[in-house]
Amino acid sequence: MKKVLFFISIISVFIACKSGDEKQNVEDKTKIVDITEIPDYQKGLELTSKSDCFTCHKIDEKNIGPAWRDVANKYANTDDAEEILAKKIIEGGSGNWGEIPMASHANFSEEEAKTIVRYILLMKE
Ligand code: HEC
Repeated sequence: MKKVLFFISIISVFIACKSGDEKQNVEDKTKIVDITEIPDYQKGLELTSKSDCFTCHKIDEKNIGPAWRDVANKYANTDDAEEILAKKIIEGGSGNWGEIPMASHANFSEEEAKTIVRYILLMKE
C-alpha cells in the first residue's frame, strides 16, 4: 500500500510540474514581440538604409519628413495603407503632412515599396 501511495505522489509531482510548464508557455505567448526580429522589419530596414530615407526621416522625431512612428500611427486603421504609401514612396508627393514634398523613388519595385511600408507600419504604438 505504501508503495502505491509513493507512486501516486510521484505522479502528482510530475503532473504539477507539467502544468507549470504549460503556464510558462502561456506567459511566453503574451510577451511583447521584438519587432526587430520580424523579417519585414529586417528587409525594410535594409532597403531604407541603402536609400536616402534617413536624410529626411527619423523613427521618433519629425525631421524634413514626418517621424515614421507618426506615419505608422496615422495609417494604423487604414485598410489600403500598404498601397497608398507604397505609391507615395515610388512617386513622391506632398499634402498629407505639409507642403514639403516627399521625394520620388522610382528605383523601388512595388513589392519593395510595400515591404518598406510594412516595416514602417510595425512602428505603431
Ligand atoms: C527629401 C526628403 C525626403 C526623402 C529623401 C524621403 N522622404 Fe518620405 N517624406 C518626406 C516628406 C516631406 C513627407 C511628407 C509628405 C506629405 O506631406 O504628403 C514624407 C512622407 C513620407 C511618408 C508618408 C506619406 C503619406 O502620404 O502620409 C512615408 C511612408 C515616407 N515618406 C517614406 C519614405 C521612404 C521609405 C523614403 C526612402 C525611400 C523616404 N520617405 C525618403 C520627405 C522625404
